[in-house]
Amino acid sequence: MKKKVAIIGVTGSVGQEFVVSLNNHPWFEIVQIAASNKSAGKKYLESIKDAGSGIINWHPASPIPEYVKDMTVDKVEDIKIDNIDLVFSSIESEAAREIESKFAKFVPVISTSSAYRYDEDVPILIPGINDEHVDLIDVQKKNRNWNGFVAPIPNCTTTGLAITLKPLYEQFGTNKVIMTSMQAISGAGRTPGVPAMDITDNIIPYIPNEEKKVRIETAKILGKINEGKINNANIKISCTCTRVPVIDGHTESVSIETSKPIDPTLVKKSYEEYFNDLNILSLPSAPPKYYEIHDEPTRPQPRIDREINDGMTTSIGRLEKEIIFDHGIKYVLFSHNKKMGSAKGAILLAELLYKKGKI
Ligand SMILES: NC(=O)c1ccc[n+]([C@@H]2O[C@H](COP(=O)([O-])OP(=O)(O)OC[C@H]3O[C@@H](n4cnc5c(N)ncnc54)[C@H](OP(=O)(O)O)[C@@H]3O)[C@@H](O)[C@H]2O)c1
Repeated sequence: MKKKVAIIGVTGSVGQEFVVSLNNHPWFEIVQIAASNKSAGKKYLESIKDAGSGIINWHPASPIPEYVKDMTVDKVEDIKIDNIDLVFSSIESEAAREIESKFAKFVPVISTSSAYRYDEDVPILIPGINDEHVDLIDVQKKNRNWNGFVAPIPNCTTTGLAITLKPLYEQFGTNKVIMTSMQAISGAGRTPGVPAMDITDNIIPYIPNEEKKVRIETAKILGKINEGKINNANIKISCTCTRVPVIDGHTESVSIETSKPIDPTLVKKSYEEYFNDLNILSLPSAPPKYYEIHDEPTRPQPRIDREINDGMTTSIGRLEKEIIFDHGIKYVLFSHNKKMGSAKGAILLAELLYKKGKI
């Protein structure tokens, strides 16, 4: 029997991707959807219409699935907890802190928000990258006396960085990372979102709180778990996060200093070996390839690469020795912020936790 799930924040950028990626899911069935009071009581199709213009604000690349159009959007407090096994939460982080804990007392909550990411007993999980951190969930349940738990995925800019750093960090040692991001508009969500007048023909060189999130989250994800605690990776990360006029997908220019000698051939081999050892590839939302390495110097590009394996593959190009370090490598990565970086990545995490018997 399928697990019954509720999506909260179902009208937003990430919520809409949950609706798409859970359509006909083999293990999960959406039984309730919720958003803020503004949307509550409306049919889904009505709830995503702009109140002033009546324009349907639908962001995914695929059409609105039929099954959801006539579902009624509930208030969060009207979710019938006895009728669900799992919650996917994609609400903005301030509201998420209180709301997610109300559910986590009873059922697992897989969250795309940052509300709990920085708590000591909460792992930030990327399937295939730090699966051993799943053990922290039992610590969290015990600490808080919860039957459920909160399992967040990272910020969408951290995701591509952590996925590409992991094999290199393990094999070559990574001391310093310099990263400049070129982040998509959809990463800012719908409310308030980024006004077209501000982003069209423009680059905004600052995204509030983003750089700190990337620094803290990357060190936590690459950290080691020991006796119920994560010891963060000892790695210095400097980042500059910018917003660019791209709809979906974050591009990041990365330079790293390593302890051991490194070059593009060794890096390619490292990704290949890491991929061959991954044991999450049988999960329904896992891509057939985790890494796509491009030799063509004009890749990756958002428009060409965002749909590869339904946005679940991280593309890497421009692999070159980084000459400012004794040992170092530089590359450009592309990661889909709403697929691997949020909704579908969160579903992949739920699948992993289901397989591990946590859901
Ligand atoms: N966008 C991305 O690429 C991305 C990637 C990774 C993580 N995230 C994180 O995921 C979360 C959602 O992001 P988003 O981009 O989807 O934001 P969004 O487009 O602004 O959507 C926010 C959603 O939260 C609902 N909401 C807001 N306040 C609420 C409340 N008090 N109670 C119940 N529902 C409430 C909204 O409902 P109404 O429509 O009714 O207002 C809407 O469904 C955020 O925490 C964000 O940081 C986003």
